[in-house]
Amino acid sequence: MLITFEGIDGCGKSTQINLLKQYLEDKGKHVQVYREPGGAYIAEEIRSLLLDSKNDISAISELLLFSAARAQLVQEKIIPDLENGSVVILDRFYDSTIAYQGYGRSVLPLKEIVTLNKVASHGLIPDLTFYLRLPLNLASQRRSERARDRMEMAGNEFYTRVFEGYELMVKEHPRFIVLDGAHPIESIALEIQQYL
Ligand code: ADP
Ligand code: TYD
Repeated sequence: MLITFEGIDGCGKSTQINLLKQYLEDKGKHVQVYREPGGAYIAEEIRSLLLDSKNDISAISELLLFSAARAQLVQEKIIPDLENGSVVILDRFYDSTIAYQGYGRSVLPLKEIVTLNKVASHGLIPDLTFYLRLPLNLASQRRSERARDRMEMAGNEFYTRVFEGYELMVKEHPRFIVLDGAHPIESIALEIQQYL
């Protein structure tokens, strides 16, 4: 089973993923958690390039680097884990590429990004995708404690496009389960558990 979490930076994905992992492990499941970009050696190296605010990366190059990191993670870790019967939980997957590179950067027509996403993910489709909806001002308050990475330097207009992109995606694809990220941590966790 493949479960993905999506939403703007600071919406609470990591918090909920940790709680879900614990919940599933308590039920005797074997759980693997990975973050994107990252989760495998090559993918973590690519992550450092992508998030280092000193790097000047072209929009197409950024798209291909996120995709390259994903291709490595899928082949090296996710496919074998799924074959072994593990539950795989991902902190972001290709929906992030549609939201950030597609809607945020407008780097290519969405159709072409969808094709690239299929290639990079070997055609995997998540069984469940939780979208944590959080207004941009609340998300940026939550992020204020930590140093800004290269993506987070992109500014408010960029984040507005990303947020609106997610909102369009959740309307279009019934796979998304929309959760109110402003609710208390425990109540979001209980809602997530109802889908498992
Ligand atoms: P993400 O992984 O989406 O960037 P995190 O899980 O790291 O988000 O959460 C960002 C910050 O917001 C953390 O300090 C976390 O403790 C806090 N946080 C997460 N969920 C909630 C919530 N439902 N209500 C209030 N604060 C939260
Ligand atoms: P990360 O710190 O892992 O996410 P978060 O801030 O939500 O905890 O940072 C990953 C950044 O990369 C985040 O800004 C979203 C962005 N991203 C893309 O632009 N495209 C992608 O395909 C992926 C997977 C992430």
